[in-house]
Amino acid sequence: MALDKLTVLISAEQIQNRIRELGAKIDGDYPNPAEIVHLICILKGAYVFMADLSRAIKRPVIVDFMGISSYGKGKTSSGEVRVTKDLDTVIEGHHVIIVEDIVDSGVTLTYLLNLLDQRKPRSIKIAALLDKPERRLRPVTAAYAGFSIPDEFVVGYGLDYAEQYRSLPDVCVLSEG
Ligand code: IMP
Ligand code: MG
Repeated sequence: MALDKLTVLISAEQIQNRIRELGAKIDGDYPNPAEIVHLICILKGAYVFMADLSRAIKRPVIVDFMGISSYGKGKTSSGEVRVTKDLDTVIEGHHVIIVEDIVDSGVTLTYLLNLLDQRKPRSIKIAALLDKPERRLRPVTAAYAGFSIPDEFVVGYGLDYAEQYRSLPDVCVLSEG
């Protein structure tokens, strides 16, 4: 059976409105321009969110990218986390915000928080566009969470199924059509 039915769950407009709010909250939480805020985009799923969130934040930020692979080609986690591309920049002494597409089991972010903490940032928080709290296996909380969603597989706005659908402007539920 083909997995190709797409139903809009969160529209592009809803996403933009929420990102404006998240950007304003981040600006309020880091008011000192002398302190460096370092955004770390988790590739590939967070690339669209990173582009919009970084522009919704009005204070200066540093952006960097980290490649992490925690899923195979399917819809279920392999349970394995692998760094496929490390940061180009040093985060020591900086306020780090990990920018992620979705918090699902929390396995990926738990691994990342431990890894980045060893590099002595001044603080670390998580910004996640989506959150599936029902699926949590590890206690991970995003300080900046866009939308809490039910336990459905979603694609679009950077999220993929077998590398497809990332460029859709809306977040859509992918089901059997
Ligand atoms: P976790 O380690 O289980 O929290 O997995 C997080 C990663 O799994 C995310 O960064 C996504 O890449 C991927 N993922 C989890 N749920 C979905 C989904 O519904 N659609 C697409 N990717 C997902
Ligand atoms: Mg991801």
